[in-house]
Amino acid sequence: MTVSNVIEEFYNVSDDGFLKIALKYGNPIKSRPDSGIIDTLITRTSDQVERDSLTKRYGAENFPIHTDCAYLKTPPRFILLKYVGDITEVTPTVIVHFDINRLTEEEIDFIKHRIWFVKGENKGFYSRILQNGILRYDKEVMKLVNSDSDLMETILKKMTTTSISWEKNKVAIIDNYAVLHYRPKVSEKEINKRILQRINII
Ligand SMILES: [Fe+2]
Repeated sequence: MTVSNVIEEFYNVSDDGFLKIALKYGNPIKSRPDSGIIDTLITRTSDQVERDSLTKRYGAENFPIHTDCAYLKTPPRFILLKYVGDITEVTPTVIVHFDINRLTEEEIDFIKHRIWFVKGENKGFYSRILQNGILRYDKEVMKLVNSDSDLMETILKKMTTTSISWEKNKVAIIDNYAVLHYRPKVSEKEINKRILQRINII
């Protein structure tokens, strides 16, 4: 799969335009019961937030590589992100291009057959990394069921990455079933200022 198939970018997108793009891709869903269709993600330090989240755990540090909403049985197919902050030269979002052709037979077997327990919203469920066309990985919410050695670190190191650089009112659409992503460590000046809006699409 080429880069253009998994990410699309638009520039100078209005509020209206953001929703229109979302509707073109599918049905927007709330990421949390108490959130709106448009979520606002603000870079904060760990001590600024109460609820358990990546920000609570990692603050301004490197976020781990993940699928968005891996804890949902059916995670959103597409993630729309729009940068709405005022500061320039913000830390990009990094896309990890998951390419099965880079893997050994043992690694392919690992991602297709090893069973993980996913801490869901209620009682949790079992899943593989690649299952029914969905790529699901988030070590924050997933644990290998048996004591097999975890090959994911080696596997992820084999993948190429690209960056989504941000400028005000730029929108990027990520195919959440095909690629993984993360946010690298941010600089001090980005705290409270690196602001992204997100719409999840099913
Ligand atoms: Fe994410």
